Amino acid sequence: MLRRVLRPLAVAMLRRVLRPLAVAMLLLQAAAPVFAQEVLDTDPNTLAPSKDPKRTANGLAQTPPMGWNSWNKFGCNVNEDVIRKTADAIASNGMKAAGYEYIVIDDCWHGTRDANGFITEDRTRFPGGLTVLGNYIHAKGLKFGIYSDAGTKTCGGRPGSQGHEYQDALQYARWGVDYLKYDWCSTGVRNAEEAYATMADALRATGRPILFSLCEWGNSRPWLWGEKIGNMWRTTGDITDKWEGKHGYSWGVASIVDLNEPLWPFAGPGHWNDPDMLEVGNGGLTDAEYRAHFSLWAMMAAPLIAGNNVADMTQATRDILLNRDVIAVDQDPLGVQGHRVARVGKQEVWVKPMADGGRVLLLWNRGDKPTRIVADWAMLGLPASVKMRGRNVWSHKDLGQLSSSYQSEVAPHDVIMIVLGI
Ligand code: GLA
Repeated sequence: MLRRVLRPLAVAMLRRVLRPLAVAMLLLQAAAPVFAQEVLDTDPNTLAPSKDPKRTANGLAQTPPMGWNSWNKFGCNVNEDVIRKTADAIASNGMKAAGYEYIVIDDCWHGTRDANGFITEDRTRFPGGLTVLGNYIHAKGLKFGIYSDAGTKTCGGRPGSQGHEYQDALQYARWGVDYLKYDWCSTGVRNAEEAYATMADALRATGRPILFSLCEWGNSRPWLWGEKIGNMWRTTGDITDKWEGKHGYSWGVASIVDLNEPLWPFAGPGHWNDPDMLEVGNGGLTDAEYRAHFSLWAMMAAPLIAGNNVADMTQATRDILLNRDVIAVDQDPLGVQGHRVARVGKQEVWVKPMADGGRVLLLWNRGDKPTRIVADWAMLGLPASVKMRGRNVWSHKDLGQLSSSYQSEVAPHDVIMIVLGI
């Protein structure tokens, strides 16, 4: 009898206590910052091993390649004069000293094939020929890069290398080429791994060390098979000088970042994810946006291939491309691609581990209003008590010893980049 009265009473009391408690917990969860528990990426240790265990890497590009490529600024209007002026500028304006090394002629340098099937250069655009131009580049202490395509035609409609791989590789070696960017137009049903492996073998057969840049736009997921075939692989369609979005076949900077970021476990010394060449200085973005573009490429250990007219740069462009602290982040010998560790709305926190045990912290405001972004040490995988020396690599200010968290106001579309040393 007593039990029959007491049980409903106890249940009613429990409900009265539990229901508000549950509601309070839900509210708390919604209000708490979600930063620290957001782990967005796959575990690199669970990835499949290379499918091609017998092949060995060529040993080049132990840090992300640096240089310049003609395409983003000059497109098909490339010629000997442009390349000579670019080499002159890079050798004398501080870029060479900062690490920019390869001068790459992209599409449209080609002439026809000769009677034996060897490729020739277009002598109206390159009247002195590519041997002389290659010597000119080498005499400046720089390296010479060229472009071809795995199909029958390049994207600009010039002769492709399909069926001529060994002959083309041999010709490039005769010209003194040090870098080949190999595109993917007019390839029909060709298998990408086979096509790129064939050219890799042809380059190797020349006996000349030639850095191999795969430009297959990520279609056949080259990060799964390219590690021992090439030194870098494009992960996306073409970049365009816009902040975000898809524009025809091309992508704005922020959209490219979203496509390249999740692939961070696949990059490492000798084989890098390539989110495409830089647009810094081409005029479509603000200085803050170009600063964000360059910082994100450095965080992602991306090849730093300038794509502007380096013979005619504003001071702002120069300050970005020549920021040695940011370049050092990109070139860190540990070779781990940094990645996003937290995202709330338009606020992002990125981290890149460094060879000296330190970390690089990037606060990125993708939004249109200034905002305060907070990064706590849990996001860096560190206990709150760990003290690290901070340096803001864009304002060039030392921040003293930091621990537990770092926060800053970040301007629209801009970044704050802090190198944390131990
Ligand atoms: C493709 C590549 C570009 C450039 C052009 C040249 O679009 O992705 O980087 O090389 O071809 O035609």
